[in-house]
Amino acid sequence: MSKVITSVNQLDFNVSELENMPAPEKVLLVKPTYFSVEYVINPHMEGHIGDVDKLAAQNEWEHLKAAYEELGFYVHVEEGRRGFPDMVFCANQSLPNITKDGKKEVIMSVMNSEQRKGEVPFIQKVYEETSYEIVHLDNTRFSSFEGMGDAIWHFKKRLLWGGYGYRSSKEVYDVISETFDTPVIALELVDERFYHLDTCLCMLDSETVMYYPKAFTDNGKELIHTLFKNVIEVSKYEAEKLFACNATCPDGKNVFIQQGCVDVNHKLKEAGFKIHEFSTYQFLKSGGSVFCMKMLLW
Ligand code: ARG
Repeated sequence: MSKVITSVNQLDFNVSELENMPAPEKVLLVKPTYFSVEYVINPHMEGHIGDVDKLAAQNEWEHLKAAYEELGFYVHVEEGRRGFPDMVFCANQSLPNITKDGKKEVIMSVMNSEQRKGEVPFIQKVYEETSYEIVHLDNTRFSSFEGMGDAIWHFKKRLLWGGYGYRSSKEVYDVISETFDTPVIALELVDERFYHLDTCLCMLDSETVMYYPKAFTDNGKELIHTLFKNVIEVSKYEAEKLFACNATCPDGKNVFIQQGCVDVNHKLKEAGFKIHEFSTYQFLKSGGSVFCMKMLLW
């Protein structure tokens, strides 16, 4: 049975009583060999066509890779593919799940833009090789769903947060909720600069989130404040220009974040998180940063 929640009056649970889920221990990264800005499909890409410094991008990516290894994650590196300059953003082509009995499954995305549709089969191969069961959405019913760019697991709980409006359609969450047997909190996104949920909301641990309030409706903000004990707000500058909310906290303690988010880093430290700053300036030109440059896997 599907359960998609869009306002607080539909809530019939507390996060603490939801089923536990293991934290992922693997990271998928795609090499930035063919990364560049070649078209404009989000406002951040405007003015950046042909503007990527490839060597700098490679360097930025290597630093991130090393950091996941240092944290103890198993890192699976996939080759980039010529003609797919955005494939490095491997949060977008899929949404993996682990069931109660440890079965691994994945829903493959239906990319919103023509330019990115061809990335999906390459990422699907990675799942096939690691014994995930593959689920395809009916693309005659759903025009778009961009994986973990828009659908983010609550930290260690069977609860999914799903953004919609720009890259994913709201209706898709009924199917996802049913397929993964999980409630979904569906949040409408209302500012095109924050086109994926991972650009304006960052899961930190089971009780803590950071987010940029203006990217959400009142219903969305109320849901966020109701389901998280600690809510850290990000300023417009750090959210929009530095993609602070596109940080990632893969273990509930260490936060990987774009360099220079001075204000929110202060709040994160006060809340007990450990900050690791990275330069992702080349990737910001394409409208992406730390979170969307990886996929967490079981
Ligand atoms: N240029 C890419 C796009 O517009 C960037 C994707 C970034 N991914 C993310 N989940 N925020 O699709």
